[in-house]
Amino acid sequence: MDYLAIARKYRPQTFEEVVGQEGVATTLRNALESGRVAHAYLFCGPRGVGKTTTARILAKALNCADGPTPTPCNQCESCRGIMGGDDIDVIEIDAASNTGVDDIRSLRDNVRFAPARSRFKVYIVDEVHMLSRSAFNAFLKTLEEPPAHVKFVFCTTEPHRLPDTIHSRCQRFDFRRISTTDIVTRLGQICAKEGRAADAGALALIARSSKGGMRDSETLLDQLTSYCGDAITVAEVEQALGALPRPRIFQLIGHLAAHEVDKALQLVHDALQDGKDIENLLTQVLDHVRSLLVLSVCGSQRALLDETPEDLAELVKQGQSFTTDSLLYISQVLWDTLRKVKEGAHSRVPLELAIIKLARSSDLQPLAAVLERLQALEARLATNTPAPPGAPPRGARPAPRAAAPTAEKPTPPPSGEKKKAAAPTKRPRLAKREGEPPASEHPAVDYEAMAAARAELEKAAKDNPVVSEALRILEGQLIKLEK
Ligand SMILES: Nc1ncnc2c1ncn2[C@@H]1O[C@H](COP(=O)(O)OP(=O)(O)OP(=O)(O)O)[C@@H](O)[C@H]1O
Ligand SMILES: [Mg+2]
Ligand SMILES: [Zn+2]
Repeated sequence: MDYLAIARKYRPQTFEEVVGQEGVATTLRNALESGRVAHAYLFCGPRGVGKTTTARILAKALNCADGPTPTPCNQCESCRGIMGGDDIDVIEIDAASNTGVDDIRSLRDNVRFAPARSRFKVYIVDEVHMLSRSAFNAFLKTLEEPPAHVKFVFCTTEPHRLPDTIHSRCQRFDFRRISTTDIVTRLGQICAKEGRAADAGALALIARSSKGGMRDSETLLDQLTSYCGDAITVAEVEQALGALPRPRIFQLIGHLAAHEVDKALQLVHDALQDGKDIENLLTQVLDHVRSLLVLSVCGSQRALLDETPEDLAELVKQGQSFTTDSLLYISQVLWDTLRKVKEGAHSRVPLELAIIKLARSSDLQPLAAVLERLQALEARLATNTPAPPGAPPRGARPAPRAAAPTAEKPTPPPSGEKKKAAAPTKRPRLAKREGEPPASEHPAVDYEAMAAARAELEKAAKDNPVVSEALRILEGQLIKLEK
């Protein structure tokens, strides 16, 4: 007997079998039951989530010898013809290879003829966004008032590329990505029917790797079935995916947290030696950091995470080494690196530079305090309010936060800045000198103090993302004031 790929062999044949698209299935069943089936549907959604499958079930439901019915028999000639994809009244068109206006004109001419043996002529147009503009225009009239014996189902992964004129003539259904849990259940059922054993972790890994697409999961399962021994294991799935084992990702992030540059670089080197793909590796690390970030900001809202309970427990532990800010910083660096890797010649250099940068960056925790101080400064600058009593006098470097507010003597500026700090300024000052005319209504700004603060920040900003962000805020305020 001919070998049939799992994805084809296990194509759902009833609305109930379609996984994860309950909303669509229920609405269609109700429409069939009440005899209110629209003349044109638009099925939108990612690859391999059941659009064509549902279109075929709808066609069977309309044309079944027992129908129209929400539960086609799957036995009659029409049902069997549609299941095999060779029914004369259900016409599947791949718009990607029939994009021209001539194709659509001949379709339009054919639409007029009555179905050969069934109730309806059902046109299933896949990848409909690929049609040319003139082809869409040729379609419009037919779509507006098709003969009563015609139904259209348009499928697309890119609904935004369709003209509004098409959208407004169709009933739209959005197909969702399928959850990891639902995919795992389905894969488990398929394995049982195929008499194959598979670890639960292995199935979860397959499901996660296909990002909600059932077909991709089934194709990978198919590949593994022919390649694995008795049972499909996590290690074999990782191998097939070209992925780094998850414990290694945990280790890599651990090295970054512990500033172990050498170990982190060695781990990356080993992975690349082992044939792992740079882009893949970066994506894996990014996904891992995303999980840490979600945990860090959402705490108990675990539903946002697609992790096994064991990995989740590990992640919670690892998350304690990072602040949200540092995780944001790590993600940002990794994103930039991924972009560079994609743009460039797939070199390992950007990856290694990122690893060095991240492993060397100091812990951001204490810097939250710096940021707080800067925000206070920013608020003051924004409202032009004078510094509170005890703040460093004009021309002096701002005292460190921990310094006693009673300090009488200004902290002397470091030697390099002495001259600049001591130089008289023509700019408005905060304090009024004796004999001076009364200050204007508009409170003055202490530019020298600001310049000193800026110099201090520029130094600190060199290897610290929080400070450099603070500096950016401060710069913005200075520019506004100078204007
Ligand atoms: N919701 C689902 N439930 C069960 N199996 C599914 C589902 N979606 C897809 N599959 C499996 O994937 C295969 C392909 O599905 P289908 O052709 O319906 O995808 P599609 O959404 O039309 O994708 P594409 O956009 O690539 O055309 C099916 O034969 C079936 O095995
Ligand atoms: Mg399809
Ligand atoms: Zn039937």
